Amino acid sequence: MPRFRPAIERIDGYAPGEQPQDAGWTKLNTNENPYPPSPRVIEAIESAARGRLNIYPDPLGTRFRKAAGELFGVDSDWILPANGSDENLTIIVRSFADADDLVTFPYPSYILYETLADIQGARHERLLLNADWSWDLDRVRPMIEQSRIVFVPNPNSPSGNSWSHDTIEQLVPPGGVLVLDEAYGDFPAEPHRAQILQRDAGSRIIITRTLSKSYSLAGLRFGFAIAHPDVITGMRKVKDSYNCDTLSLAAATAAIEDQDWMLANTAKIRATRTRLTNELRSLGFNAVDSDANFVWTTHPDRSHRTIYEALKARRILVRLMTFPEALNGGTIDGLRITVGTDEETDRFLETLCSIVA
Ligand SMILES: Cc1ncc(COP(=O)(O)O)c(C=O)c1O
Repeated sequence: MPRFRPAIERIDGYAPGEQPQDAGWTKLNTNENPYPPSPRVIEAIESAARGRLNIYPDPLGTRFRKAAGELFGVDSDWILPANGSDENLTIIVRSFADADDLVTFPYPSYILYETLADIQGARHERLLLNADWSWDLDRVRPMIEQSRIVFVPNPNSPSGNSWSHDTIEQLVPPGGVLVLDEAYGDFPAEPHRAQILQRDAGSRIIITRTLSKSYSLAGLRFGFAIAHPDVITGMRKVKDSYNCDTLSLAAATAAIEDQDWMLANTAKIRATRTRLTNELRSLGFNAVDSDANFVWTTHPDRSHRTIYEALKARRILVRLMTFPEALNGGTIDGLRITVGTDEETDRFLETLCSIVA
């Protein structure tokens, strides 16, 4: 066997949520959108497939960048399309973090940040969040000040809460970049727009967006970054020449051009989210008020693993998550429930009720 780099030998690799390939599951574990994508997306894929697939795609994604720029009120040279938001996160780590550089991120949050820093061989530190998911800015400030990259998902996962722009601005590292991961930025009642880029620290902030969640396109793999053109130009040197294919570029452009479709689906998800949160509470669970398409829930005295397994035995998948060494050295564990359709949510709640009753 060839020897891997020590940085790779040391890690287990990121483990994504389960993706069962057989039918019949109520899948509430990886924050997919339960509603289909816009019909215009399907038409765009069909028409692109009938086009010239023997030719490489547009390496810059010109049409998509124009549409995304219009949507966010920036010029198209502020946009970098990628093969999913995760690819942009990889491009950012490869662009900004050398071996001795520090990468930081809130904890608990999206574990991929840590894996990407490990793969790059960069140093990393977890910025421990308070028990109510707020920041202790005085405690984390010294680490922010030394960071080359600070990753902050807003809304956060697994908790689903958002942080204000005033808080976010205090997380910008003076010698590096703040990556505002807005994978769930279309789900708050007031969806996030790129206003923060207009503030002073703008050129130190990169926003990352995905079409996997609000646009119902997790199977397509498409995301994009929004940042100052000089930042985008640098990141472009790092990306693969043809990181987005012809079909996904056509589909993603059609998706963001059909805002009505996305807004109707996110409105339905917000309504179901409120009902799910209230019902969880009435079953004796704690549930964090969520701005995303999932709800983080814990039970004061039942085992989360037992609940997860009992649901799975009835073909309902939720995400059991464990975060060791969280605040005060304790372990935080709980269940992250994706907001499904009303029917899926009813099935989940009825089953949950029979498990904890
Ligand atoms: C916080 C966060 N960022 C990024 C992603 C990945 O998005 P994509 O599917 O575009 O790679 C996810 C997916 O679950 C996520 O939760």
